[in-house]
Amino acid sequence: MFYNKKCPESRASTEKHFLQNVYNFCRLCRSFALLLYKGKLIFKYIPVPESIKPMFRICFRSLFAFFVVLLLSNVPAIAAPDGKALFMSNCASCHNPLKESTGPALQNIDKTFPSKEWGYKWIRNSAALIAAGDKTAVDIYNKYNKTAMTAFPSLSDEEIDAILAYVNEYKAPVTATADAGKSGGGQPATDSNGWLYTVITLSLLMLVIILWRANQGLKRAANDKDDVPNEKEIPLYRSKLVIAVTAILIFILSGYWLVNGAVNEGRQQNYQPLQPLYYSHKVHAGINQINCLYCHAGAEKSRQAMIPSSNVCMNCHKQIKEYTGAEEHPLKTAEGKTINGTEQIQLLYKYAGWDPVKKDYNRDAKGNILATPIQWVKIHNLPDHVYFNHAQHVKVGQVQCQQCHGNIEEMDEVYQFSPLSMGWCINCHRQTQVQFTSNNYYSIFTKYHEELKSGKRTGVTEAEVGGMECQKCHY
Ligand code: HEC
Ligand code: HEC
Ligand code: HEC
Ligand code: HEC
Ligand code: HEC
Ligand code: HEC
Repeated sequence: MFYNKKCPESRASTEKHFLQNVYNFCRLCRSFALLLYKGKLIFKYIPVPESIKPMFRICFRSLFAFFVVLLLSNVPAIAAPDGKALFMSNCASCHNPLKESTGPALQNIDKTFPSKEWGYKWIRNSAALIAAGDKTAVDIYNKYNKTAMTAFPSLSDEEIDAILAYVNEYKAPVTATADAGKSGGGQPATDSNGWLYTVITLSLLMLVIILWRANQGLKRAANDKDDVPNEKEIPLYRSKLVIAVTAILIFILSGYWLVNGAVNEGRQQNYQPLQPLYYSHKVHAGINQINCLYCHAGAEKSRQAMIPSSNVCMNCHKQIKEYTGAEEHPLKTAEGKTINGTEQIQLLYKYAGWDPVKKDYNRDAKGNILATPIQWVKIHNLPDHVYFNHAQHVKVGQVQCQQCHGNIEEMDEVYQFSPLSMGWCINCHRQTQVQFTSNNYYSIFTKYHEELKSGKRTGVTEAEVGGMECQKCHY
C-alpha cells in the first residue's frame, strides 16, 4: 500500500481512501449490473437463434468475470490521490503541518489564500506568481527571507486538494517519545488493508472458477439430456492451455524478478549501518540546532560534503562532557537497545586522544596528539562511474539537504533516504527549475532568456540546460 511504514499515523488516511475505493467500486458494479440488464432486454426484443444464446451468455459471463478481476487488481489505481503520501514526498522536507520550518506551517493555510485558484498557482509555480508581481505572493516571499519554494508543475488540482485536506486534518502525534519504544504495537494493524484486498481478490477468483466449473457441469447435463455426445473431460493439469498460460506467467514473473534485481544491484535505499560511535544527528542538528555546514562544510564548497574529523567534535566536547538529555530524548538504536550518551562521549575522547581529567590531549614524545580516526561506515555511495557534486546543488542550485537526504535532523542514526538511482537524479532535473536569470553561467541560453522576457515561458528546468546529458553525470 501507499502509506509510509515509518509513520503509523498515516493509517487513518489510508483507511479512509479504502472506503472511497469500495464506494467507487460499488458504483462501477452498479453500472455493470445495468449493462447486464440491458443485455437481457436485447435478448428479449431481438430474435436471436436459440442455439447461439448460451454461447453469448458464456462470452458475456467470462468477460464480466475478467473485468471484475482486472478491476480488483487495480483498485488502488482508481483510488483518490493520497494527500499524506504526496505531502510526505513533496512538501515534508520544508513544511510541517503545525510548526513553522523552512516554509510556514500549512494547517488551514488555504483559508488565507486570496482564492482557490491562487493556491493552485502558488503551489505549481510560486516563482512565476512572484515574478508576475502578485502582491500576496511577493509579501509571503519577503516574509520568509526570499527563500524559494520548489515548483510542482505536475501536481493536479485534485492532488493539491488532497495535500491541503491532509494537512488541515493533521493532528500532532500523541507523546511521540513515550510511544517510540512500543511503536511495534500498532504495526500489524497497518498491514490489514493490503491483506483485505488480497482476500477479496482471491475469493472472487475462486468464485470465477466455481462458476466456470458449474457452467461446464450444466452444459454436460444439458448435452446428456439432449443425447449430444460430451467431449472427453481433460483434467486441468493436463490441459494444454493451462500449461501454456502457466509457463508464460512463470517466464514473465521470473524475468521481471531477474531484471529488477539486476537493476537494483548495488543500490541500498534505507541502508542504516551500525556506526562505531553512537552519534545522533537528532541531538546535534535537531535538538541543539547545529548547522549542517558546521560539520559538513564541504557541501557548499566542493564535490564532497565531507565527514568532520574528531577535532571538530572536540571544539564543543572539551566542555560538553556528558549527555544530559536522556530524560527528554532517550537514545536508542534501531534495534531498541538503550545507549548511554555520556559513555559515547567518553568513547569520543578515546578516539580524539583527549584526557578529560588532565584536560589536555595525550601526546607522544614529539608532541603529536595520539588520536585514532573514527571509522565511520559510509552510507551514501554512488558507483564510480557517476560524478556528483554537492556545491553545484547546495550552493548554486539552492537545493536543501533534506530534499536528497530526508529529515536528517530527526534521525538518531542516519539512513539512506533516497534511492540514488539514475531515475531519481533525472526526475529531479526534469522538475526543478534552475536560478536562471541571476546566474551568468546561463547567459548563453539566449533563446530561453527571450522566451522568459516575452512571457512565453515561466522558468527553465535543469533538464533543459543540460541536466540530461550523459557526460555531465558520467565520466
Ligand atoms: C524547498 C522547500 C519547499 C518545498 C519542498 C515546499 N515548500 Fe511551500 N514554501 C516554502 C517556503 C520557503 C515558503 C515561504 C514563501 C517563500 O519564501 O517563497 C513556502 C510557502 C508555501 C505556501 C504559501 C504560504 C502562505 O503564507 O500562503 C504554501 C501554500 C505552500 N508553501 C505549500 C506547499 C506545498 C503544498 C508543498 C508540496 C507540494 C510545498 N509547499 C513544498 C518552501 C517549500
Ligand atoms: C556536529 C557535527 C554534525 C552536524 C551538525 C551534522 N552532521 Fe551529518 N554527519 C556527521 C558525522 C560525524 C557523520 C558520520 C556518522 C553518521 O553517518 O552518522 C555524519 C553523516 C551524515 C550523512 C551520511 C554520510 C554518509 O555516510 O553517507 C549525511 C547525509 C549527513 N550527515 C547530513 C547532515 C545534514 C543534512 C545535517 C544538517 C541537518 C548534518 N548532517 C549535520 C556530523 C554532523
Ligand atoms: C557545536 C557543538 C558540538 C559539536 C561540534 C559536536 N557536538 Fe556532540 N554534543 C553537543 C551537544 C550540545 C550535545 C548534547 C549535550 C546534552 O544534551 O547534555 C552533544 C552530545 C553528544 C553525544 C551524546 C549524545 C549522542 O548523540 O549520542 C555524543 C556521543 C556526541 N555529542 C558526539 C559528538 C561527535 C562524535 C561529534 C563530532 C562529529 C560531536 N559530538 C560534535 C554539541 C556538539
Ligand atoms: C541533490 C542531492 C543532494 C543534496 C541537495 C545534498 N546531498 Fe549529500 N549526498 C548526495 C549524494 C548523491 C551523495 C553520495 C555521493 C557519493 O557517493 O559520491 C551524498 C553524500 C553525502 C555525504 C557523505 C559524504 C560525501 O561527501 O560523500 C554527506 C555527509 C552529505 N551528503 C551531506 C549533505 C549535506 C550536509 C547537505 C546539505 C548542505 C547535502 N548533503 C545536500 C546528494 C545530495
Ligand atoms: C532534488 C533535486 C536534484 C537531485 C535529486 C539531483 N539534482 Fe543534479 N541538479 C539539480 C539542480 C537544481 C541543478 C542546477 C544547479 C544550477 O543552478 O546550476 C543540478 C545540476 C546538476 C549538474 C550540473 C549540470 C550542468 O548543467 O552543468 C550535474 C552534473 C548534476 N546535477 C548531477 C546530478 C546527479 C549525478 C544526481 C544524482 C546522484 C543529481 N544531480 C540529483 C537538482 C537535483
Ligand atoms: C543526472 C545525472 C545522470 C545523467 C544525465 C545520466 N546518468 Fe546514467 N546514471 C546516473 C546514476 C546516478 C547512475 C547510478 C545508478 C545506480 O547506482 O543504480 C547511473 C547509471 C547508469 C548506467 C548503469 C546502469 C544502472 O542503471 O545502474 C548506465 C548504463 C547509464 N547510467 C547510462 C547513461 C546514459 C547512456 C546517459 C545519457 C542518455 C545517462 N546515463 C545520463 C546518473 C545520470
